[in-house]
Amino acid sequence: MTDLNSRYGMNPPHSEVVDACQHITPCKALDMGCSNGRNALYLSQLGFNVTAVDSNPNAIHMLQSIVAQEQIANIEPRIYDINRASLDEDYGFIACTVTLMFLDPARVEAVLADMQQHTLPGGYNLIVCAMDTAAHPCPVGFPFTLQEEQLREIYSGWELLKYNEDLGTMHNGAQLQFATMLARKPA
Ligand SMILES: C[S@@+](CC[C@H](N)C(=O)[O-])C[C@H]1O[C@@H](n2cnc3c(N)ncnc32)[C@H](O)[C@@H]1O
Repeated sequence: MTDLNSRYGMNPPHSEVVDACQHITPCKALDMGCSNGRNALYLSQLGFNVTAVDSNPNAIHMLQSIVAQEQIANIEPRIYDINRASLDEDYGFIACTVTLMFLDPARVEAVLADMQQHTLPGGYNLIVCAMDTAAHPCPVGFPFTLQEEQLREIYSGWELLKYNEDLGTMHNGAQLQFATMLARKPA
C-alpha cells in the first residue's frame, strides 16, 4: 500500500480505525470529521467507498486536491456540519474519531441517533470521544464530553465488539479518559 499519509505530511490513520478494519469488509463508509483525510485515505486504500465530511472548508479542499492529484475514485470529500444530524445516505461503516467532543452538546444526542439510523443492518459505528468523569475530570475545555457508560447506554441493543473508557494522553501531555467503541448494528 502506498503511504499516502506520509506523502502528504499527515499522521498515520487513527489506530482504532486500523483495528476496526480487521473486523469490517470494505463497504460504503462515512468518515465524520475527516479533517485532512488521514483515515479516509487509509480506508480508500483498503477498498472502502468513503464519504469524508468536515465543516472546515480548508480541510475538505486539501483532501479534494489529494483526491484529484492521486486520481482517487473512491473518496468523496464534502463540507458538512455534523450538528445538522441530517445524513442523507446509509453506510456500512461510520467512523467518528475524536470529533464528537467538538460538537454542540445540545445536538450530540440527535447526531448519534442519526448515525445509528443511517447505518445499514449489520453495519458498524466506531466512536472515540473524550470523557469527563469524577476520577479524571477533563482538563480540556471541549464543548462536549461523555459521561461514564453514556455511550454504552446509547448503543444498547447493538453488539459491542470493543468498548472501553481507558485513560489516554493528549498531544500536549494532558491525561484524560476516552470512550472507545466499535459497535455492530443488529442485522
Ligand atoms: C481532532 S479532528 C479529528 C479528525 C479525524 N477524525 C481524525 O481521527 O484524525 C476533529 C475534526 O472535527 C471537525 N469538526 C468539528 N466540528 C464539526 C462539525 N460541527 N461538523 C463537521 N466537522 C466538525 C474539525 O474541523 C476537525 O477536522
